[in-house]
Amino acid sequence: MSLGPCEIFEVGPRDGLQNEAREIPVAEKVALIDQLSSAGFSRIEIASFVSPARVPQMAGSADVLAGITRAPGVRYAALTPNMRGYTDALAAGADEIAVFASASEGFSQANINAGIDESIERFAPVLEEARHIDLPVRGYVSCVVECPYDGPVSPAAVAKVADRLFAMGCYEISLGDTIGAGTPDKIARMLLAVRDVVPAGRLAGHYHDTNGRAMENIDASLSMGVRVFDAAVGGLGGCPFAPGSAGNVATEAVAAHLAALGYDTGLDIDTIEKAATMARAMRAV
Ligand code: HMG
Ligand code: MG
Repeated sequence: MSLGPCEIFEVGPRDGLQNEAREIPVAEKVALIDQLSSAGFSRIEIASFVSPARVPQMAGSADVLAGITRAPGVRYAALTPNMRGYTDALAAGADEIAVFASASEGFSQANINAGIDESIERFAPVLEEARHIDLPVRGYVSCVVECPYDGPVSPAAVAKVADRLFAMGCYEISLGDTIGAGTPDKIARMLLAVRDVVPAGRLAGHYHDTNGRAMENIDASLSMGVRVFDAAVGGLGGCPFAPGSAGNVATEAVAAHLAALGYDTGLDIDTIEKAATMARAMRAV
């Protein structure tokens, strides 16, 4: 019996590769994205228009967007922390963008060199401009359970930032367990607070698998009505400014898990497995 649709938002080419130590050539990234493009995803995050001094791995993002073969029905997404990033992402042809905030001050400072309030001020013109041209903007909230600098984060703090991003016009709020500190109980408590301000249908779970609990956290989120999950093919990933943030939960594992539970992901597991093999090889070289 089908339990209905459930979407995986593929973040491997961005969240996955941004943290790899080896400088990965644009051609390799393009090959991975082209493989992912035929797997059945609606959205794939492939680029990041941030300071190349801070995240060297994402420096070739415009070339990546120029190099891919676009599949019909797939939106290719890019991170944009400020107006400079927005302008560059548009010029490069991103189909949607994402602003990224944190529920904790410590990570906000370390990641984007701004406190939470200041980061939201930087996002305001981005959302304003995007609204004029109907460009979809996703909003991330990092450290939804714990911050590597400030420690435990309250569900109320997460709800406050999620509420602000949603009110500004983000079409979906992705909740990042940046260092994989979540447990099903903690995730459920956090979602209970966030659901009061953003409908569950506009939420996504973005769970890093640092402690091997991401899949249980997905299950807890499913029971709270969340039906979109971010994942990285091959389990690639981590954030350079969050010590201990291991890879995102692996796309191939989430796809198999959701299918076994009875959800329709529209994904082709064989194609994803091929992409996972490519992703793991990129890491291993
Ligand atoms: P800043 O230092 O506050 O800004 O940076 P600034 O205006 O003082 O500029 C500093 C330098 O960056 C200048 O260059 C600017 O030109 C340049 P310099 O004069 O020193 O040569 N700059 C830019 N360059 C390219 N693109 C831009 C841009 N803006 C300024 N858009 C900024 C603020 C956010 C840019 C910086 O702190 C930065 O790039 N941080 C990196 C953030 C990042 O990419 N983090 C990883 C992604 S977030 C993540 O992984 C978490 C997530 O997965 C969810 C989860 O797991 O929780 C989403
Ligand atoms: Mg992440």
